[in-house]
Amino acid sequence: MDGQAVADIKRCDIGPLILLGPPGAGKGTQAKKIAEVYSIPQISTGDILRANVSAGTELGKKAKAIMESGELVPDSLVCDMVAARLVEPDCARGFILDGFPRTVTQAEWLDGFLQSKLFENQPCAKVPPIVIEFAVDYNSLLRRLTGRRSCPTCGRIYNVYYQAPRVADTCDVDGTKLVTRKDDDEQVISERLKAYERQTLPLTEYYRGKGRLRVIDGDREMDAVTAETLETLEHGNRL
Ligand code: AP5
Repeated sequence: MDGQAVADIKRCDIGPLILLGPPGAGKGTQAKKIAEVYSIPQISTGDILRANVSAGTELGKKAKAIMESGELVPDSLVCDMVAARLVEPDCARGFILDGFPRTVTQAEWLDGFLQSKLFENQPCAKVPPIVIEFAVDYNSLLRRLTGRRSCPTCGRIYNVYYQAPRVADTCDVDGTKLVTRKDDDEQVISERLKAYERQTLPLTEYYRGKGRLRVIDGDREMDAVTAETLETLEHGNRL
């Protein structure tokens, strides 16, 4: 992309980008790259819930055991949390939803919210969502999830098999000791994948039916997935 193209992208209203895919598909990894290129925020419902668990808020207390079992947090709790986030000023030009929606009920709620008076003051309110699904083989997902480590300070994601830090267990950016997510335990991973099949996979048909879905092969090198994702966004129907 040349300098003018980058400047244009940083000015235009991008609207909602929804990233779909099973646990470990690379939603968080790709969201961080897209956020950097387009200067819009990554909104990860998993990260917001984990922050609430760590801070011991009422929401965190309700979500903790559910997340540790690999099940989904009730729709009403998650939708209220997302509603509060989407009206913040940094969402004015657009935002990346990573891990939301996750049920058809959440998707229907989101469609309604984006058309509602609560959202009408955001400059990107009229821009329709674009939905990208990352498709990844089951065995790759297992390896990615069991190998994932993350930095509790800056949020950077690593992988002992695919993207190891320069010094073992240490963040390249700030030197913090890396952590393993509690739900990246094999038993919980299996429950998360089952919850995905049961509750989230139907969203593929929901968005395909609306003509919004783009499917990207996520089972390739991270940079190849990023390149196709950015290309899809640039040649999509509105960027
Ligand atoms: P959440 O945090 O959203 O977890 P998830 O959807 O299970 O997704 P992950 O974060 O595990 O995977 P990812 O696709 O982001 O992959 P990543 O980029 O990290 O949710 C956690 C829990 O919160 C849920 O179980 C639920 O309880 C609750 N929750 C959250 N949202 C909710 C909602 N909307 N409704 C109800 N409940 C909700 O990559 C994974 C690893 O693979 C990393 O190590 C990475 O380095 C590596 N990797 C990435 N891409 C590649 C590649 N191309 N090649 C090789 N390695 C790669």
